[in-house]
This record gives sequence, C-alpha cells and structure tokens, in this order.
Amino acid sequence: MFTLAHLSDPHLAPLPAPRWSELIGKRVTGYINWQRRRRFIHDPAVLAKIVADLKSQSPDAIAITGDLTNIALPQEFVAGRAWLAALGAPADVTVIPGNHDVYVPEAGVMVDRQWRPYMSEDDETAGFPFVRRRGPLGLIGVSTGVPTPPFFATGLIGNEQLAAVALTLDQLKAEKLFRVVLIHHPPASKAARHKRLIDAHILLHVIAEHGAELVLHGHDHLHMLNWLDGPNGTRVPAVGVPSASAAWGMSKDAAAYNLYAIDGAPGAWTCEMISRGIGSAGTVMQQRRVKIIG
Ligand SMILES: [Fe+2]
Repeated sequence: MFTLAHLSDPHLAPLPAPRWSELIGKRVTGYINWQRRRRFIHDPAVLAKIVADLKSQSPDAIAITGDLTNIALPQEFVAGRAWLAALGAPADVTVIPGNHDVYVPEAGVMVDRQWRPYMSEDDETAGFPFVRRRGPLGLIGVSTGVPTPPFFATGLIGNEQLAAVALTLDQLKAEKLFRVVLIHHPPASKAARHKRLIDAHILLHVIAEHGAELVLHGHDHLHMLNWLDGPNGTRVPAVGVPSASAAWGMSKDAAAYNLYAIDGAPGAWTCEMISRGIGSAGTVMQQRRVKIIG
C-alpha cells in the first residue's frame, strides 16, 4: 500500500508588500483583486491546519498542483520555498507550477531558481514534463503555465510537451507503474472560457490513446471528479481539490486535501480516495472515502 497526498492552490498569504516598480502589467489587476477579495479567502491559519492534518497522516509522497503564489512577486517565491521546506524534503514533495506562479513573463526564472528541487527528475533534470518514480507510482509533472493578459487564467501544455507526455505514459506503462499525471488546469471543467486549458482536447486524446491511472489537478478551487476516456473502454479519474487555504463559507469549496491509498498491479490496481477538509467548526475532518479504482 502506497499513500499519496494531493493538495493544491495554497496561494500563500499574507501577500508581501510589492514595490511600486514590481506592480507592472498583470500584477496591477492581481494586486487589486487580492486586496479587494482574495485576501479574505486565503487564510494562513486554515492552511496551517490542513498541513498539520496532512502530516499526521504520514503519506508516502505529497503532490502539489501549483498556485503557491498570488501575483508572482520575487518574495512570494522565497516564501514558497520556505513553505515547501517545512512541508517536506524535495524527494517527498513534488510540485508543478500554476498560472499564478507564472503570472508575469519573468516568473518562470524565479520558479526554477526557488523550487527546482521539488519539480525535477530524480537525476535533477529540469523541464516539463518531468518524471518521478515513488514506490509503485510514476508521477508525471506537467506545466500549463504561460503568462496571460489581465483577466485571463488560461493554460497551455503545448505540442512539444504533449508529445513527451504521450511517450512518458507508454514508458511508465512498460515499467508497470501506476501513472499519475499532475497538472494545474483541469482537463475537464465547467469553468469559464477565460480560465480554461486551451489544449485540453489534445490532452484528452493523449490519455484516450496512451492511458493513465489518475490525473490530479487544481485551479478551479473545487472538489471535482471527472471520468476521462482511456484506451479500450477504460476510464481514467481526473480529480481536483479545493484551495488548501480557502476559508470556510466563501464562494468556492473550503480548504481540503485528498489522500490516495494505492495498491495492486497493472490490470488489478486499487485506489481509495479519502478527502479531509476544514468544516464550519474550523477543524479538519474526513469528508469522503470512496474507492475510485478496483
Ligand atoms: Fe489557484
């Protein structure tokens, strides 16, 4: 039995005070949005409770599907690195970027500089997709992060990365691993067009042809479960989690994370999903336990 914990979109708060020179381009609207609305949603005390509960479950590995930051200020990447270090060692914690982490064109360099140990291959090769092998799992880290204009939160994988994902899925299948695709944007979503994954349809083709055991995502800040078509009539669960810092009673689902207990072998995998999240009383509790595979 191997246990993988998945959390997403912590949107670390408080937001460091930006310098005037840093409030350029999209950061201006992002900063106003944070001051008006988002700072009331993303609560560091809530995130601390989620992290403490997650640690008490002693998962074998932790996956984080992006949006550690808010407007991609340099100080936010440093804070993100410190938060990751407190969460676990780079070997145990796998991270991919979200759209807020690549908010501005220069953010990609800061992601790489601060977070690379958490989002590189075991031989420290950087770039996307990257692969990590943990127990029976093959984790595939995909980036959908491209800077977008103000009011847009779209993602793009790109043809080069999609081709590499297809090859990787085949390779990990040959290695008899339980393939977990980590991606910030959902491959299937009811969210507005300006938030969508632009080449989701190509990713769906790749999964339909090459298969995967599990797709984990964030971005919509909601509990989500969509079944994607896999090869030969199989179905692949795509599961999203709320923001790990979302206060209870706001517009989206309150903070939660998912645990996946994975066992078995190719053709006979089992996977039980346990959702644990914050309730109205402010404590973290089990909210759902469901066998999604096997
Ligand atoms: Fe987010």
